[in-house]
Amino acid sequence: MNQNELKQAVAKAALEEIRNQLYKDTIIGIGTGSTANFFIDELARLKQDFDGAVASSEASAERLIAHGIPVYDLNSSGILPFYIDGADEVNARLQMIKGGGAALTREKIVAACSEKFICIADESKQVEILGDFPLPVEVIPMARSHVGRELVKLGADPQWREGVKTDNGNLIIDCYNFLLDDPIKLETMINNISGVVCNGIFAQRPADVLLLGCSDGVKRLT
Ligand code: A5P
Repeated sequence: MNQNELKQAVAKAALEEIRNQLYKDTIIGIGTGSTANFFIDELARLKQDFDGAVASSEASAERLIAHGIPVYDLNSSGILPFYIDGADEVNARLQMIKGGGAALTREKIVAACSEKFICIADESKQVEILGDFPLPVEVIPMARSHVGRELVKLGADPQWREGVKTDNGNLIIDCYNFLLDDPIKLETMINNISGVVCNGIFAQRPADVLLLGCSDGVKRLT
């Protein structure tokens, strides 16, 4: 199976994971990226069985709406039973690096409002230690240089993702060569830099379930 087929397989597995727990008033949290897109396409088949979704990006909202799935504001949807999203890296504790698609802040917010985070990923995303994937940090535009200098002090090699603006109107700095041996601590330390909106370490709130697409089938890890 190629990578897209693995992503599609985990999208189908995620639908199976939740399909018996969908009710007419259920609102589902939806992530961003190519794997989440496969999930949205699968979810559309059951759109009569639940109420709608909260999206972690404008792109996902557009895809949901195109399928006829109502999209709600998080402020009016309350706590969500599920959040389904991909990852750029995931370790054995189901901690992740996310934000390759620049949607990390809204992803972290929707995940924080969800009872169960189901991570869907192909096997290339599974790592022993997080950090090979450059860690995205969302910053307020006027703080870009300041945050970059502070990230160097923390040991990173930061690079501005030029030309990219987040859905929140902010910038992304990608951090290369970060040592992520204590992801929870580093997540907090980066958040403490003035001008940082959010960083792509999802360690304080890891996934609850990982559906990992492997060549010999989808593995379910908790
Ligand atoms: C979006 O900002 C990211 O966090 C994505 O969830 C992550 O990059 C996974 O994307 P793919 O499913 O496209 O690999």
